[in-house]
Parts: sequence; C-alpha cells; structure tokens
Amino acid sequence: MTEATRVALVTGASSGIGAATARLLAERGMRVAVNYLRSVQAAEQVVKDIEAAGGEAMAVRADVRDVAAVGAMVEQIGAAWGGVDVLVHNALTPYVIKTFQDMSWEELGGKLDDELRAAFVVTKAVLPAMTEQHRGRLIYLGAVPGHQPRVGMIALGTAKAALTQFSRFLAQELGPHGITVNVVEPGPVAETRMSHVVADEQKQRQVAATPLGRLALPDDVARVIAFYAGEDNAFMTGTTAAVNGGMAMY
Ligand SMILES: NC(=O)c1ccc[n+]([C@@H]2O[C@H](COP(=O)([O-])OP(=O)(O)OC[C@H]3O[C@@H](n4cnc5c(N)ncnc54)[C@H](OP(=O)(O)O)[C@@H]3O)[C@@H](O)[C@H]2O)c1
Repeated sequence: MTEATRVALVTGASSGIGAATARLLAERGMRVAVNYLRSVQAAEQVVKDIEAAGGEAMAVRADVRDVAAVGAMVEQIGAAWGGVDVLVHNALTPYVIKTFQDMSWEELGGKLDDELRAAFVVTKAVLPAMTEQHRGRLIYLGAVPGHQPRVGMIALGTAKAALTQFSRFLAQELGPHGITVNVVEPGPVAETRMSHVVADEQKQRQVAATPLGRLALPDDVARVIAFYAGEDNAFMTGTTAAVNGGMAMY
C-alpha cells in the first residue's frame, strides 16, 4: 500500500490547525476529507487549495457530536475512497473561560460532554475499517491546560485531560489491531479563531514566556500531526507531543 492511497479524515478542517493539517496531509499524498460544521465556504476553499496543488480532497459536513451525521459522513468517505486510515480529531467545540467559582455545572459538564462525546462518536465511526485492515492512526488534539492549570481554563483543561487519558486507553486496547493512538498538545496558536479574541497584551506575555520567542503557527502543529500520521511512524503510541516552543515543559 503506498502513501498515495491512504485516506485521512480531519475534523474541524475549515479553520486554523485543522485546515493547515488537511493541506499538509494532502501534500504528503493522502486523500483528505475536510470536515466542517458551519463554514462551508472556508471548507471548500481548503479543498480548492489542495486540488490546485495537485492533491485530492472533499468537504464533508457533520457535527462531530452527532452519531447519525458522523456515520453518514464516514459512509460518504467510504463510498468515494474506502475506509479512513488516519483520523485527526481536531474540531474545537465551544467552552467558557471562567474561574471555577464563577462557573456553572452546565458550563463545565457541557464542555466535558461535548469533548468526550465527539471523540467517542468519531472514533467509533472510523474504527471498524481500521480494525478490519489491521492498520490505523488516531490523533487527537490536546491543549496545555490539559496538563498544567491556567487561570480560567478549567473547562477546556479538564476536558482535554480526559481526552488524553481516553486516548491512552485506546492505545492500550487498539495496539494489537495495528492502530496507533497519540495526542498533539499545542500551546497558544496564532491564526486560529481563539487567537483573534486574545488581547495583544496577553499575546505578548505568552511570547515572553516562550523560549522559542513566538507563538506557534497552525503549520507548526500540522507538522507534528503529520509525523504521527506517517505510515512509517509505526512504533509510537499512547504518547503526547508538546508543541509549545518550550512555554510548558513536563
Ligand atoms: N488555537 C489554539 O491556540 C489551540 C491551542 C491548543 C489546542 N488547540 C486545539 O486545536 C484544535 C483546533 O483548534 P483551532 O484553534 O485551530 O480551531 P478553530 O480555528 O477555532 O476552528 C475550529 C474548527 O472546529 C470546527 N467545529 C467546531 N465545532 C464543530 C462540530 N461540532 N462539528 C464539526 N466541526 C466543528 C469548526 O468548523 P466550522 O467553522 O465549519 O463550524 C472549525 O473548523 C482544538 O481541538 C483545540 O482545542 C488550539
């Protein structure tokens, strides 16, 4: 099997890290399904860019929390190209930035439910083809607050910590099926929707706290995702890769 025939599904690929990842995986020879929820034009633009560069891609709409929609999306990909070989679960469901004392259970529990439900639903949908073919790459997006508390980030951090532990259980269970499972954990990333709402002063503080002297770009994160996605990267599983320029060291 050559790299050219592998199929990748990138969730939340109409923006930020997901869009950069879709472009890079296509450049590396994979057929890429560009998942989105609302931003149809942006998703179609990612597909156009990939095609213009000589790659193969399709835009596929589905709410990653919705079993029926995700099932239909994976069927659509399967009908066109066959089973998904590489899942990059990247979609960012909303969360509030607040202290614990100001937060309601609905806010914290809602983020936990969205994060884990989406990971569960998308993984369940791609797994039958991976186990049948005895190969696969599952890659999830973590975040620094999933490892180290940051003020106001309890909802995101608790959800990402749960996602990381979920991925380790999968690594243990799915290793015998030839499937690797890893997490890519960025620090703050420029040119994403979140970066547009962060104040310049806070960005300057983040840069000052980063030994490599700048914020990550979506491409920095995409390259690490592509490393895990590579067919020749067959013996790393259950790991988390920090992509934060040294801002957090564990
Ligand atoms: N940005 C950062 O600084 C940063 C730092 C650490 C970790 N991360 C992680 O990296 C991942 C990507 O973040 P990002 O900042 O690049 O994202 P982003 O620019 O905010 O884009 C979010 C993407 O998720 C999609 N999405 C949202 N809800 C969805 C749903 N229910 N179903 C399907 N797609 C959905 C959006 O699609 P539509 O627009 O089409 O709805 C969009 O493509 C996330 O898991 C995030 O936690 C980001």
